[in-house]
Amino acid sequence: MSQTLLTAKNIAHKFDYELFSDVNIELKEKESIAIVGRSGSGKSTLLHIFSTFIKPNRGDVTLLGKNIYSLNEEQIEELRRYNLGIIFQAHYLFKGMTALENIEIATILSKEKIDNDLLERLEIKELMPQKIGELSGGQQQRVSIARVLSKKPKVIFADEPTGNLDKETAKLVMEVLLEYIEKNNSALILVTHDVEMAELCNRSFKLKEKILKEIST
Ligand SMILES: Nc1ncnc2c1ncn2[C@@H]1O[C@H](COP(=O)(O)OP(=O)(O)O)[C@@H](O)[C@H]1O
Ligand SMILES: [Mg+2]
Repeated sequence: MSQTLLTAKNIAHKFDYELFSDVNIELKEKESIAIVGRSGSGKSTLLHIFSTFIKPNRGDVTLLGKNIYSLNEEQIEELRRYNLGIIFQAHYLFKGMTALENIEIATILSKEKIDNDLLERLEIKELMPQKIGELSGGQQQRVSIARVLSKKPKVIFADEPTGNLDKETAKLVMEVLLEYIEKNNSALILVTHDVEMAELCNRSFKLKEKILKEIST
């Protein structure tokens, strides 16, 4: 039976006004879930709540069997380092270092090896000796995705990971992410405004009028 990796129960959150309430979601091994919705609807906030970065006003998030907002700093740090793959809009690559050095930092911290097949698949193997500052935006984006996957995370949270990419490269990145979760019994939550990308996932949800609702794709 496939294992549940993430469960969110009755999540509610507000900043200046209520963004959403009673959000419930369950994510299993090998599963990919897309969350779509208009700008400002709270998609990024929800992803931050699922991934240890924002404690919701109400509700619980269980990741890999742990109630994440009852953990201490050290336990959260460990969970992020070994089990979570965080692909957010700004990719925090070190500009003065090479692509390879950037990926090595992640693999050393998580005690993994660099996966050459992955670099080839993302069409960035030849770029490894180059400094990040010399690469195009789309190339940097793929290096940052390679860096995240090289850690061998169990759950991947991606916020518009294909937003700055041309269609062909966006499709390649999605294929790589989906292949990865299949091969590693991992799972993906993807936030996107691109319906075509959402359709590549197993299930899709729409955040609208403060409710997260499953939509058929
Ligand atoms: N840290 C924060 N403090 C105050 N308001 C915030 C914060 N983060 C997001 N918001 C507000 O919450 C709303 C939803 O933001 P966000 O989750 O980024 O939406 P989306 O990703 O769907 O565009 C916006 O109105 C935004 O200004
Ligand atoms: Mg957002």
